[in-house]
Amino acid sequence: MHKVFCTYKLPDYVKKILSGYEIKMNDKNKQLSKKEIIKNASDSLAILSMLTDKIDREVIDGCPNLKVISNCAAGYDNIDIDYARKKNIAVTNVPGVLTEATADLAFGLLLATCRRIVEADKFTREGHFVGWRYDLLQGMELQGKTLGIVGMGRIGRAVAKRALAFGMNVLYHNRKPLSKEMEHELTARYVNLEELLKESDIISLHVPLTEETHHLLNKKRLKMIKKTAYLINTARGPVIDEDALIKILENNEIAGAGLDVYENEPDVPERLKHLQNVVLLPHIGSATKETRENMLLKAAQNIKSVLNRQKPFSRVV
Ligand code: DGY
Repeated sequence: MHKVFCTYKLPDYVKKILSGYEIKMNDKNKQLSKKEIIKNASDSLAILSMLTDKIDREVIDGCPNLKVISNCAAGYDNIDIDYARKKNIAVTNVPGVLTEATADLAFGLLLATCRRIVEADKFTREGHFVGWRYDLLQGMELQGKTLGIVGMGRIGRAVAKRALAFGMNVLYHNRKPLSKEMEHELTARYVNLEELLKESDIISLHVPLTEETHHLLNKKRLKMIKKTAYLINTARGPVIDEDALIKILENNEIAGAGLDVYENEPDVPERLKHLQNVVLLPHIGSATKETRENMLLKAAQNIKSVLNRQKPFSRVV
């Protein structure tokens, strides 16, 4: 029987899809180290991985029977794609299914940051609310403001749709401009990255992590952002030079940031935690019951398809 190793404990509805295989899974409530993945998957044909599992050359070499790595995420920066290709191992992912959930979260984070919702909650719980005040916890209004979206793939476009409903103007930067019809539908205008950073009141990142996007927002570019603007990141932490961002936030050189992702997850720098002008979430962009269920189902189906020599839902290599 073909062996499938899952780095995470699977619910029964997923096991059902893989019922024709011998499933081995990590049933501990903790992430496995590379060594543990190799130990468990050394004779497996498939690995169902999470974005937190580093599937690099060492892991691939340690699992010589591997035919497919099925990542339960849209992003696949945790996998050495080039090496997998060289070894003729299929890599699959689950794009599309998490678009709306991630766009909702990005917009929620945007609202929480601009309207100081987390700060206000803490203020209320701590008993500081002693009556309505004209100057209490004023934030920034969205109507009429400019949202700059960096990365206009599925999630970026879904965020643009939400921005329209809030009466915002949308600028975007992408490797390629959208079609004229799509730009028209989203009333979004293509600009270069520098212009976007200088013009936007809120910047939201939606690019995958690649060599090109690593530290895309470096110190020099972060310095281009308006003092009154907010930065939202639900993409990948290393897209921003986190250390440079912290310094900029500490010096109030921008108004604030909403972060769902970090440069060295799960580490969240203490200096960030001490700041008032940030909202910090634990990488929950796609964390709705519906979406996470769908992601796991698609990831399991991807394994089945590759092993049965059928076209998977989404194949990276
Ligand atoms: C992904 O799938 O890449 C997301 O970050 C998961 O939330």
